[in-house]
Amino acid sequence: MSKIKITETVLRDAHQSLLATRMTTDEMLPIAEKLDEVGYYSLEAWGGATFDACMRFLDEDPWERLRALKKVIKKTPIQMLLRGQNILGYKHYPDDVVTEFVMKSVENGVDIIRIFDALNDVRNLETAIKATKKAGAHAQAAIVYTISPVHNIEHYLKVAKSFQDMGADSICIKDMSGILTPYTAYDLVKALKSTIHIPLQLHSHYTAGMAAMTYLKAIEAGVDVVDTAISPLALGTSQPATETIVAVLQNTEYDTELDLRLLSEIADYFKKVKSNHTKGNDLSLLMGVDTDVLHYQIPGGMLSNLISQLKQQNALYKYNEVLKEVPCVREDLGYPPLVTPMSQMVGTQAVLNVITGEKYKIVPKEIKDYVKGLYGKPPAPISDKIRKMIIGDEDVIIERPANLLTPQLENIRNEMKEYYEQEEDVLSYALFPQVAIKFFEYRRAKKYKIDSSLVNMDDETYPV
Ligand code: CO
Repeated sequence: MSKIKITETVLRDAHQSLLATRMTTDEMLPIAEKLDEVGYYSLEAWGGATFDACMRFLDEDPWERLRALKKVIKKTPIQMLLRGQNILGYKHYPDDVVTEFVMKSVENGVDIIRIFDALNDVRNLETAIKATKKAGAHAQAAIVYTISPVHNIEHYLKVAKSFQDMGADSICIKDMSGILTPYTAYDLVKALKSTIHIPLQLHSHYTAGMAAMTYLKAIEAGVDVVDTAISPLALGTSQPATETIVAVLQNTEYDTELDLRLLSEIADYFKKVKSNHTKGNDLSLLMGVDTDVLHYQIPGGMLSNLISQLKQQNALYKYNEVLKEVPCVREDLGYPPLVTPMSQMVGTQAVLNVITGEKYKIVPKEIKDYVKGLYGKPPAPISDKIRKMIIGDEDVIIERPANLLTPQLENIRNEMKEYYEQEEDVLSYALFPQVAIKFFEYRRAKKYKIDSSLVNMDDETYPV
């Protein structure tokens, strides 16, 4: 008997995928208690793009959101997504910042941290896994799934084995583009389950219309947990619907034992939340079935990025050329998986190659750093010819990139001290300095208005 467990993604990946990460804490809190009643394995509710989006678009403190959720969600573990040494940003941070971020995340309410590295370079997860364990939380190490000549089952087994040896409490297969087909999933899960002894979880996206079938085959092969989203925020570029998976498995040996009536009440609530965000917004681009993703392997978010970059250059007519250039750049660079931050980097390089009409005539600093080894080890070696075109005779490092970074926390604390209200502010600033300052200033102004409205006893004068 292997009861299947469910991670609900509605508070993180689902709205990141369908609503541009705009769900507010006020929209989450009224339903949080009911979500806590369901009996999910975990609620993914923090990290990924939500941290940045909270401050940048919603004038919210992400730490405050976490504390508010934790107050209501008492039984179900709260899960977050962390980009290893990139934390929730787009570059490598020194170990002291990574460790402090993990400690504060756990202190404020995170129970499970899903950690990944865009290159599956296990050294980039070391510090985060160690800190998670030290903080007393569950460290889940995620293998990024992609398709390339070097990304075969042996590669994934090797990565999973290293994670287990590093002390990970569970492993996740992270299929961020929704390209894992049902039969490949079956073979991959079978192989992983016979190699590792810690639990295995599967995370996929419905983009190509396959993920529910992929989950079923993975379940038959022995996966322990799958990620789903409550139906109003499922499908399309999001996860398979929670209710579907629960209904499919009912009265089988895999029965999730979750209550469909309760899920239906939750779905009713999120229908309203969804409509708050979709007025006048066409979701059809995100909701269709897109099997081109299997060919180009370009995740949805990256496509919209490419389009906006081309528009800026008045070169939208070169869109198809860029689509074809992406796999070439990826091959030149040793087949990095197209996940943050590699997806943005590879996409930008492809646009530059097409617009200049010459390969690697202009190369962004990030791509140079990548070729120098500063993001970790490329999955396949980069040829001497390509390396010379990009960095000339400059050295390539082979050690763990963060070994070269000196501790920074104290400098950062000094830099932002005029805004300091809580220790967590130092970390918000460390990751997104400009966005954080803007938010800190907003917070200060708001505080002032609240104080003065109390004095005046007239809230009409002070718009919220
Ligand atoms: Co995802």
